[in-house]
Amino acid sequence: MKYGFFDNDNREYVITRPDVPAPWTNYLGTEKFCTVISHNAGGYSFYNSPEYNRVTKFRPNASFDRPGHYVYLRDDETGDYWSISWQPVAKSLDEASYEIRHGLSYSTFKCEYNGITATKTLFVPKGEDAEVWDVVIKNTDNKPRTISAFSFVEFSFSHIQSDNQNHQMSLYSAGTEYRNGVIEYDLYYNTNDFEGFYYLASTFDPDSYDGQRDSFLGLYRDEANPIAVEQGQCSNSAQTCYNHCGSLHKQFVIQPGEEVRFAYILGMGKGNGEKLRAKYQDLANLDADFAGIKAHWDERCNKFQVKSPNEGLDTMINAWTLYQAETCVVWSRFASFIEVGGRTGLGYRDTAQDAISVPHANPSMTRKRLVDLLRGQVKAGYGLHLFDPDWFDPEKADVVPSKSPTVVPTPSDEDKIHGIEDTCSDDHLWLVPTICKYVMETGEESFFDEVIPYADGGNASVYDHMKAALDFSAEYVGNTGICKGLRADWNDCLNLGGGESSMVSFLHYWALQEFIDLAKHLGKTEDVDKYSTMAEGVRQACETHLWDDEGGWYIRGLTKNGDKIGTAQQTEGKIHLESNTLAVLSGAVSQERGERAMDSVDEHLYSPYGLHLNSPSFATPNDDIGFVTRVYQGVKENGAIFSHPNPWAWVAEAKLGRGNQAMKFYDSLNPYNQNDMIETRIAEPYSYVQFIMGRDHQDHGRANHPWLTGTSGWAYFSVTNFILGVRTGFEGLTVDPCIPTAWPSFDVTRQWRGATYNITVQNPNNVSKGVHSITVNGEAIEGAIPVQAEGSINDIIVILG
Ligand code: IFM
Repeated sequence: MKYGFFDNDNREYVITRPDVPAPWTNYLGTEKFCTVISHNAGGYSFYNSPEYNRVTKFRPNASFDRPGHYVYLRDDETGDYWSISWQPVAKSLDEASYEIRHGLSYSTFKCEYNGITATKTLFVPKGEDAEVWDVVIKNTDNKPRTISAFSFVEFSFSHIQSDNQNHQMSLYSAGTEYRNGVIEYDLYYNTNDFEGFYYLASTFDPDSYDGQRDSFLGLYRDEANPIAVEQGQCSNSAQTCYNHCGSLHKQFVIQPGEEVRFAYILGMGKGNGEKLRAKYQDLANLDADFAGIKAHWDERCNKFQVKSPNEGLDTMINAWTLYQAETCVVWSRFASFIEVGGRTGLGYRDTAQDAISVPHANPSMTRKRLVDLLRGQVKAGYGLHLFDPDWFDPEKADVVPSKSPTVVPTPSDEDKIHGIEDTCSDDHLWLVPTICKYVMETGEESFFDEVIPYADGGNASVYDHMKAALDFSAEYVGNTGICKGLRADWNDCLNLGGGESSMVSFLHYWALQEFIDLAKHLGKTEDVDKYSTMAEGVRQACETHLWDDEGGWYIRGLTKNGDKIGTAQQTEGKIHLESNTLAVLSGAVSQERGERAMDSVDEHLYSPYGLHLNSPSFATPNDDIGFVTRVYQGVKENGAIFSHPNPWAWVAEAKLGRGNQAMKFYDSLNPYNQNDMIETRIAEPYSYVQFIMGRDHQDHGRANHPWLTGTSGWAYFSVTNFILGVRTGFEGLTVDPCIPTAWPSFDVTRQWRGATYNITVQNPNNVSKGVHSITVNGEAIEGAIPVQAEGSINDIIVILG
């Protein structure tokens, strides 16, 4: 079943039936103010942190996506009312039609009902800490119509998310006031006039208003049938205490064929309501700010555009996958309809991986995240698994306690800096390739010399931070020389403690290769020797201890008792995706073993919805292996199709030169390809999800946890760098694709260090891999394309064969 389609010209996904089987969400905001919004206009806003600066309320786990950012319309002649988004009033789809366009950082809701066409576009203008609702109401009837419009948002109880559950204090700590077309909401323990000071304003002069939620909704009612809308008038409520909302009401008489246009503004900061209300009374300002959002994404997307024979790949790479990856980098992983801001800060491994995907599109944010992560690394080399970057930001040191002086305790150093027992064995290693990729993109080689403090004291250059990460993993190995599993590795639920993790040793090998290339580039010969010796030791340990010849794959690791995890002999957790894909991706293993391992992955882990993480799933609890054995079968880390490592398989196949396999695996996970099977998928088809129910679960194929997953970053990185094969280096741009044999050609436009590379790859002999010739502006070259002059536009022809 299909509920919508991709409009590629506008980079929008268009929902044509609003009764989708789950809320399909979007993210508004490119800087500090963010809203997570569903196709029903349900959702919430926050500033910077979904935990500490919560602007509007949301009820997670409710059976629907409420409350939200709503506009109600009322026919003042008949008393009939509806909402521009289908929910919350939910007119019958036989009498009203709805269309929702989720675009990059905006969403437009359109409703046609009974002679009135209304649209509402929500976006967060650049440079403003506010969400603007651009509302247009058109009379398509043949008689004048009298229509009332009402806004509705429910303000967060507090700026602290958890207070929305712990109700008591908040009931007595906040208040609304109405002033000149603005409802202002303030918190008594507010420490400044910005955070914790929210408002809802309109560009019209309201006829009535409500700041008290229960006055607007009425007793024993909800957002579907507010008493104010039913009666055609708010009760002008605004006072301290209880629950608060922002409703501004205006009646319009609209002639046949005419339309009215106005804006609501939801934002923060004392005085900003009046300021923005004045600004947007000139609708040209509204149009200019919306154009600014479009330009923001044009600039980012245009850094890499592809035209290939695979429309789904083009659609996702040219817009949606980059957009999702950047959403993870900018907003971290704690703000969605699943993660609702209960935690804050950065997950070390998540951030280090997400950041590898966007150095071209958002170099400044990538750099910021790298610095955050380097400050969150301890001298011993490991990363703090979950930390708030503000803790270690010298400029924020004084600001942190003011987030909430009364409620959030300032963590002690002991709380911030955990020891080895809480360390995840992979976190720090992801940093090494990401730092290299950032410098390859930007050419900012001085970054390696920048001195950055460790979280637990002392300073080191970025280059030495990288060495500390590699040295830590060399030190913390078990009896066989394979890295210890510690609290967990990439798999949060594989808790090996003193056991050993193949996945981490292969990751260590990959990070070492990236670092050795860097050391060579910088002419640091001692380091080249030292880390090449280290890498060879890792490789030998892996090949000696991890290959299961009977199965034809690499095992997942060893328990602290030395028992192997993931062998042909086992009946549960027999084969795993992470160890086999990283074995090949890292370059540690031979072509022959690599091919056997990936054939086994295909045979045992493939499904039409992507590759399973392991199979068969664990059915017997075993605490030597970890919590994964207690997770339900076919779910999440236990035998689901865990999306994040799927792109590792695409890279592995690309490295093996098997383009048909790489594309088979890519296509299976690509949400675009599931647009007409929503009855199985459930989740939105423009976003990768964290996991899809595996074959051992009755809902096999159902996609869970959209948006906040490392899949997007890895999908983007894998396709652009390894399938399409356009890779930056320290000195040049490599084009080395691995594509399906049936592809006759494809085109990529890549902007890099100020120059444009218009690349055409031709495949006359139907191969997957192997470059026969390259010309740059008509001149034949060997190897990487040298960096071209800033501002230049260059024609690159690559012939495979
Ligand atoms: O790798 C983790 C990630 O850090 C958080 N989500 C689950 C993944 C697998 O356990």
